[in-house]
Amino acid sequence: MKRVSAALLLVLVCFPLIRCAGQGGSSAPSGLRCEFRVDPADIETAGPRLSWIIETAERGWRQSAYRVLVASSPETLAADRGDLWDSGRVESDASAHVPYNGRELTSGIACYWKVRVWDAGGQESPWSESARWEMGLLSPEDWIAKWIGHASETAPLFRREFSVPKEIARARAYICGLGYHELYINGKKSGDQVLDPGQTDYEERAFYVVHDVTGLLRRGENAVGVMLGDGWYNQRAVNEAKYGWGDVVYGDPRLIFQMRVEYADGSVEWVVSDDRWIASPGPILSSNVYAGETYDARLEQPGWSEPGFAGGGWTPVTLVEAPGGVLESQKIPPVKRMETLQTAVVTNPKPGVYVFDMGRNFAGWVRLNVQAPAGTIISMRFAETLAPDGMVDMGSTGVGATHVEQTDTYICRGGGLEIWEPRFTYHGFRYVEMTGYPGQPAPDMLEGIVVYTAVEPAGTFTCSDPMLNRIHQTAIHTLTSNLHSVPTDCPAREKCGWLGDAHVMAEMSIFNFDMPVFWSKYVMDIETNRRSRGGIVEDIAPGRRQEPGTHPDWGSAFIQIPWYLYLYYGDTEVIREHYEGMQEFLAHVEGLAKEYIVSEGYGDWCPPGGARPTETPVALTSTAYFYFDTVIMARAAELLGKPEDAARFRDLAGKIREAFISRFYDPAEKTFGSQTADAFALYLGLEPEGAAEDVAASLADNVVRVKGGHFATGVTGSLHLYRELSGYGYDDAALGIFRKTDYPSINNLFSLGATTLWEKWEKSYGSLNHPMQGGFDVWFFDGIGGIKPDPESPGFRHSVFRPLVADGLESAEVTHRSPYGVLSSAWTNKNRVFTWKIRVPANTTATVHVPAADPSSVTEGGKPVSKAEGITVKGPDRGCLVLEAGSGTYTFESRVDPDAWRKAQGRK
Ligand code: BGC
Repeated sequence: MKRVSAALLLVLVCFPLIRCAGQGGSSAPSGLRCEFRVDPADIETAGPRLSWIIETAERGWRQSAYRVLVASSPETLAADRGDLWDSGRVESDASAHVPYNGRELTSGIACYWKVRVWDAGGQESPWSESARWEMGLLSPEDWIAKWIGHASETAPLFRREFSVPKEIARARAYICGLGYHELYINGKKSGDQVLDPGQTDYEERAFYVVHDVTGLLRRGENAVGVMLGDGWYNQRAVNEAKYGWGDVVYGDPRLIFQMRVEYADGSVEWVVSDDRWIASPGPILSSNVYAGETYDARLEQPGWSEPGFAGGGWTPVTLVEAPGGVLESQKIPPVKRMETLQTAVVTNPKPGVYVFDMGRNFAGWVRLNVQAPAGTIISMRFAETLAPDGMVDMGSTGVGATHVEQTDTYICRGGGLEIWEPRFTYHGFRYVEMTGYPGQPAPDMLEGIVVYTAVEPAGTFTCSDPMLNRIHQTAIHTLTSNLHSVPTDCPAREKCGWLGDAHVMAEMSIFNFDMPVFWSKYVMDIETNRRSRGGIVEDIAPGRRQEPGTHPDWGSAFIQIPWYLYLYYGDTEVIREHYEGMQEFLAHVEGLAKEYIVSEGYGDWCPPGGARPTETPVALTSTAYFYFDTVIMARAAELLGKPEDAARFRDLAGKIREAFISRFYDPAEKTFGSQTADAFALYLGLEPEGAAEDVAASLADNVVRVKGGHFATGVTGSLHLYRELSGYGYDDAALGIFRKTDYPSINNLFSLGATTLWEKWEKSYGSLNHPMQGGFDVWFFDGIGGIKPDPESPGFRHSVFRPLVADGLESAEVTHRSPYGVLSSAWTNKNRVFTWKIRVPANTTATVHVPAADPSSVTEGGKPVSKAEGITVKGPDRGCLVLEAGSGTYTFESRVDPDAWRKAQGRK
C-alpha cells in the first residue's frame, strides 16, 4: 500500500515535467554568464563571450539555434528589443562562449541580455531570465582622477566630502589603492571583499575594482574614505635574496578613485581623487603581508569617513606618479572571508602565554574579541605547529628565510568590548600564541577567519571510504589556503606564485572550483613578468622575485595552463592571446636542449626523502615537459589555423620522443626507471610503440613490490601516478597507496598532525601547507568518479565517462560544473553488481564506458541498454561496454568481475 502511494506521488510530482516534455517545448536557458562570470561589472573586451545552459530532463537534447538580445535598459529588454544587439535566430549549437557582436560598447555602460534557443526539432524555448553586464573603463582617457598619496609612518587614511543634490539612479566607484585598500562611504565599508586589489606586476598592470555604491550614497552631504596598506606594492619587511624570492618593493602606497554618480534625471557627476582630498595617519601602525599588522585602537578617529567629520591632523594629499602599468579591471573574484573557525582549545604553556588551537591549518587571520584597559598590548604570533613544550614553533613558517614572524599586535582602546581583525596581511597557521592579555582568555576571544579568493565551488567528491574523503578534504583545504589572487606555494613562508606548483595543481583546482578567470589572470601574470624581464619566463609570477632565469619544467606552466583552460573550459582566447609568448618560451627551451634532451630544471620536486628528486633524473622530467609543451603548441597552432607552425611542432615533438626513448628507456626491464618516469611517460605517450602495458606493469611492480605499496613520487609524478595505474587495471595499487599508514603516506602525515598537505613527507621545517602535493586529487574526479574532458571537443562539450572498479571501494560520487552544466557520476559496486548513475548536460554528448563482465547484460533504467533512449551502443572494449550518449540522466547496471576487469585493462 505504502509503495503504491509513493509511486502515485512520484507520478503526480513528475506530471508537469512529463507534460512539458511531451509538448516538446524546450526549457528556458538559465545560468547566463558573460566572460565566465555572473553579471560582471567590469568587462573590458569589445566582444564579451556569452554562455548559457539548458536544464532539461529530456534525453539527447541538442540546441539547433539561438537568439540573443542585448539591450541598454531593462525596459527595452523586457519589450524584447535588443537595441545593442539582436543576434536574430542563429542556426548554431553553440551555447558557450558566443561572442557579443552588436553595437560598440562604451565605458561604464550597462548591458541587459537574455537568450532563447531552439531544440533539434525546431521547438522554441521561452526567453531566459535576464542577466546583465557592465563595461569597465576601457581607455586610459577614462581616468580623470589623479593618483594621490600621503607620506605617513602609518597606513594612511584619505577622505573627501561631496554633496548629492538629486535623486540617484546608479553610482559606481572605480578604485585602485596600492598595495591594499579599503573603501568606505558614509562610514560604511563598501563590499565584503578584503585584500583588494589582487597582486600583479604593478609596473605592467594594476587592478581597479568596481563597487556598486548606489545604496551607500544619500541625498545631501556624503563622504568617501579610503584606508591604504603596503600590500605587495611596498613589501619592505622581507628581502629574501638567498632563495631568490626577495625584492617586491615598487613604491609607497598610492591611490586613484573615481565615482560616477548618475542621477534619476539622466545627468552625471564624478567624484574623483585629486589634490582636494585630505589625509591623516591612521590606527594601523604597520602592516606587512609576511610580518603582520600592528593596530593602535586609541588612534581610531570615529567618523573619519562620514560627512561633517572635523578631526585634527588632516593635511592635503600629495599628487603622485601612477604606478606605471595599465589600469585593468580585477575580474577575478576578490579575496573574502570564506569560513569562521571556533577555537578548539586554549592552553597555557607558560605564565602569561596562551596558545589557541584553531583546529586546522589554514590561511587568514583571527578576529579578536577583547575587553581590556586602554593601552593593553595584545600580541599574537601565528604558527603551523607546536614545540614539544606546547609553545608555538615558528620554524615551518619560514623565519629562517624571511627573518620575520607572522605577528599581529592590537593595542586596546579600553572601555568595552573591542572586536578587531587585521586588514592588510594574512597568515598561514593553526596555532596562535597570545601574550599581553591581563587575564585568562576564553576560547571565543579568538575566532579563525579563513580567507581566500572567493572562487565558486564547481565540483564535489565523496566515496564510501572515509579516509579517501578526508584526503580529498585535506587537498581542498591546502588549495584554498593558497588562492590569494595568486596560486601560492604556501601561505606562510613564501606566498609565491611558483610556476611549477601552479601547473601541477591546475587540474585539481579546476575540477573543484570555477577557475577560468583566476587561471587566465595568472597566465597574464607570467606574461607581465616575462615582459618586465626582457622576455624571460621566470619561475615565479607575479612580483619580480627572481634573478632572471628559467627552469624549463616550471616555465612549462606558461604553455600548460592555457592548454588546461582550453581542455576544461573550451577557452581558446588565452591560447590566442599568449601564443607568441608561449612560442618564444618553447624556443628558449629548445635552445637549452642538447640533442633534444633538456637537462636543466628542478625535477620531480619534493618526493619522499627531501626536496630534490633522487629516483628520477631532472633531464627526464624536463625533457618530458619539453615534449608536452611541444605537443600542446602543435595543438595550439592547429587551433589558431597555423598549419606550418603545427607541422614544425609535430616534427620537433617526434624528435624529442625518439631522443627520450633512446636516452631513458630500458628495453630489458621495460621501464624508464622510476614511478614518476613511467607514469609521466605513459601519460604523454612517450613509451615505445606497443610497450604501454609493459611500462604500466613495471610501474605497478615498483609501487607494489619495490616500494611495498607506497608512492615514491615528487610533485610531477604524484599528478600522474594514480591515473596511469588505474588506466591499466592497477586500480587496487592506486587505491592502496592512499590507504597506507606508514611512511611515506598521507595517513602518515595525519598521524603526525597534518591537516593540510606538507611540502615534504617528513617532519621538517618545510612548509606544512603546500598545494603542489595535491595534484593527485584530479584522479579522484577523472579516475575514481571517471569524468574526463575530451580534447577533441573541449569544455566537456563531449566527455568521457569511465569509472574505477576496485575491490574494497563500494561507492563514489563526483560532480563537476562545466560550461554546459553539471556532469555527475555516482556508482556503487557491491556483490559484483555495478550500478552507475551519470548525468550528461544538455547540448553535450559523452562516450560512456560501462564496466561489464558480460556486455550483453548491461541495462539502463532496468531495460537492455540497446533499448535505452538517447544511447547508441558501440561495442565492447577493455572490459567495458562502450556507448555514445546524448544528454540526460542514465542509470546503468551491470555485473562486474574484478579479475576479468583487471585483465581487460591490460594488466599483466
Ligand atoms: C617553494 C616550492 C617551489 C620551489 C622551487 C620552494 O621554496 O616553496 O614550492 O616550487 O621552491 O624550487
